[in-house]
Amino acid sequence: MFFERPAAGSRVLLVHVDDPTSTLSSSEELGELATSAGLDPVGIVSSSRRFPHPATFVGQGKLIEIRDAMVATDAEVVVFDEDLTPTHERNIEKFLSKRVLGRTGLILAIFADRARTHEGKLQVELAQLHHASSRLVRGWTHLDRQRGGSGRGAGSAAGLGGAGETQLEADQRLLGDRIKQVRGRLDRVRRQRQQNRRSRTRSEVRTVALAGYTNAGKSTLFNRISDAGVHAADQLFATLDPTLRRLELPVAGTVVLSDTVGFIRKLPHTLVDAFRATLEEVTEADLILHVIDAAAEEKSERIDEVNRVLEEIGAGEVPQLIVMNKSDLAGGVRPVERDASGMPTRVWLSAVTGEGVADLIAAVGERLAEGVVEVDLTIRPEEGRLRARCFSLGEVINETTLEDGSIRLCLRIEEKNLKRLGSEASRHNLRTSVGI
Ligand code: GTP
Repeated sequence: MFFERPAAGSRVLLVHVDDPTSTLSSSEELGELATSAGLDPVGIVSSSRRFPHPATFVGQGKLIEIRDAMVATDAEVVVFDEDLTPTHERNIEKFLSKRVLGRTGLILAIFADRARTHEGKLQVELAQLHHASSRLVRGWTHLDRQRGGSGRGAGSAAGLGGAGETQLEADQRLLGDRIKQVRGRLDRVRRQRQQNRRSRTRSEVRTVALAGYTNAGKSTLFNRISDAGVHAADQLFATLDPTLRRLELPVAGTVVLSDTVGFIRKLPHTLVDAFRATLEEVTEADLILHVIDAAAEEKSERIDEVNRVLEEIGAGEVPQLIVMNKSDLAGGVRPVERDASGMPTRVWLSAVTGEGVADLIAAVGERLAEGVVEVDLTIRPEEGRLRARCFSLGEVINETTLEDGSIRLCLRIEEKNLKRLGSEASRHNLRTSVGI
């Protein structure tokens, strides 16, 4: 790997620069992110700047303060809560003689640890390669070490091409090759996933997507819901993508639950782009479970931030059910909140203790059952095609063959799909048996 992240457990000094234009500028969050990345924050230096210093982001006086703090805390790496330019990084590293990590590098390190799918891992690697290539101008010396370690040959001259190719050119060439390779793999995985999504859409399986700020507890909740006895093992989803589960919900029937990467304040644009494909699951969902850490101090800012990213990726219109997680740390579980028409809008629970999870499952069922009806349908033996349409547009709950060879179906179907079926079915004794 060309992107060199600090070793797990590295002692890091945090530098938090207050942005007077943001309400979400907690230095506490920077510490949480560093810990999430497996680093050990040993101190923090705060600064307030309206505009970055062109050469070193912070001023000379602050740099001296940072250097002294690094000596005092024995820190090996300095982590800035900012998206530093390659020039900033180079100049600060030169001054401190220590490794510098900006916000993008920090988030990349977190995403690298948490990427669960093959596609997610490739996306992180591609983002890391792009991040590295923008910094390559400075001719990283550690690229030599890595090349030796990755089996391309030992020694600083390893991998050098024809006569006259400098180390920097060789690095650029290797990086370019790797980017091409990862892109190719990513394309193949993406095509496969789109294919899977298309077949889900064709069979009208509805999707519920988990979204939320990083650390809100999405993955814990995802596993908890899957363990709650509603997980219907499905090889297609279980083996191809660990972030998808097929569930059987009361009333609403079969749905697919999908987990996403955590959203983070000031998520760098390059990363939003890198993860756009994964986030498409959210864009195309029928319902978003917006998971919130009910115990977090800045929850309303985090909700706004998540909604801003959802808007940006085109998921602003997808209906949401708010999930107040970690209620065990925030005064306990409360009753489900409902809107004027009685639909659940907010559920309180604890993904760790499991309290309230049954309420959530029931609420998702209620939300998705909106506009779903159950119908009885009799299909003559020669109309096999209509039977196939029923299976693809709705969910067949019961099927019996009558004496004359006709088939009697009990079908759970969305009203909009019933209309599609309508013209074909109206001739066939269609009647609504249960209005839900
Ligand atoms: P990202 O992968 O960063 O997006 O995080 P996430 O939203 O998937 O959060 P995750 O499930 O990894 O949980 C983050 C931390 O919160 C873990 O340490 C969990 O054990 C903890 N956690 C999750 N749910 C609860 C809860 O209901 N109560 C308490 N006390 N802790 C919880």
